[in-house]
Amino acid sequence: MFFQEVLWMIVLTVGLLGSHCEGAISCKNEDDKDVDWFILYKVKNGFNYVYTDSTNQNLRKNNKHVNNQAGVLANTLKPYFEKDTQSSEFGFIAYNDQPPTSNSVSSTHGHSKGFVMIDKENVVWLLHSTPNFPSCRESNKFYPNSGKCNAQIFMCVTLNSTESAEIAQHLKDINAYKFEEHNADNLTDSSTAPRARPYNKDLRSAGNSLFKRFVKQTSATRDPKVGDLYVTIADTLNTNLYIQTWRSDRGEPFVTRKGKELVTIMSVDTAAGKWDHGSDHSKWCVSETQDWMCVGDSNREPSQFERPGGALCIKSQPVAEKFREIKKLVKIDTAGATAGATAGDIDCGTESDTGPPPKKPKVHG
Ligand SMILES: *[C@@H]1O[C@H](CO)[C@@H](O)[C@H](O)[C@H]1NC(C)=O
Ligand SMILES: *[C@@H]1O[C@H](CO)[C@@H](O)[C@H](O)[C@H]1NC(C)=O
Repeated sequence: MFFQEVLWMIVLTVGLLGSHCEGAISCKNEDDKDVDWFILYKVKNGFNYVYTDSTNQNLRKNNKHVNNQAGVLANTLKPYFEKDTQSSEFGFIAYNDQPPTSNSVSSTHGHSKGFVMIDKENVVWLLHSTPNFPSCRESNKFYPNSGKCNAQIFMCVTLNSTESAEIAQHLKDINAYKFEEHNADNLTDSSTAPRARPYNKDLRSAGNSLFKRFVKQTSATRDPKVGDLYVTIADTLNTNLYIQTWRSDRGEPFVTRKGKELVTIMSVDTAAGKWDHGSDHSKWCVSETQDWMCVGDSNREPSQFERPGGALCIKSQPVAEKFREIKKLVKIDTAGATAGATAGDIDCGTESDTGPPPKKPKVHG
């Protein structure tokens, strides 16, 4: 009897310790340490990137490549890779309108890409710009080869799991195309009444940093003052914006309803390299004077004005300052910067390591 009780206690203790050691899900850094948030901006034509997070706000060059199986992204996505050890308390949604599983997704979906995970304690929201990401559920193959040639951006935030309904609402309102999900009830909004768009809401990270999420309006007539995500952001934050999106060339300054200027970033100059906006698939903007920096879903392109979409913005003085520093309003003359500049998202022309560009002309990217 006594022996059995002792044995039982040992089993219990080991079990408790085990679950404690696993820890809650979180955004992770290169050393597999928890971070409240990070931003990762991958260079064009390569796997290096610049990176900043809640523990060190220098926008510094990576040590490991973006596709490293013990790098920032693989560390963050580890609960997704570890299929066999997943409990009923872990769930996720992978959304991407350019999914690894098929080529054509209806344009009624947002031009939106992200990965959301939930466990009992936290929600992790990773927004990004990379087609076909994650390309498979293995730590050594999750980063698509097609994501090498263009620059891409990732923003990750760790939230209390009590915020799951906010994320669920967001994914519904941008009509995210979910290509893989598991145990995602708490990340799924089943309301039927449509919410008025555009709107924005504050979001606090688990570490109490201030974020704001935006859901854009759609315009069937492709009116930029209605359908351009960045018009909504500029007028809401009441600020001029510097904006990087996929081959946007909207002429500038473009003036919003409230007279805010939207200025196109033509190139960036970072600690990991310089590149021209013609090979940059990231979507981000930074306020001219305020502490807001945002990662968006949408490009400044008429075809996107009729699609839903959103953005996540962080309020951080150092982040805003660093992104203002790297932006240039002129094209940088780097070798090959504009080579292969044809239509299509994952087409990098001759630079592409995925073979020849797709034959079917694509309706934007
Ligand atoms: C979902 O929410 C319910 C109710 O708040 C909670 O009991 C459950 O643990 C949650 N499930 C997950 C996977 O977070
Ligand atoms: C998450 O929010 C709940 C409810 O507000 C709170 O009790 C809990 O301590 C929070 N968790 C963390 C890790 O902050």
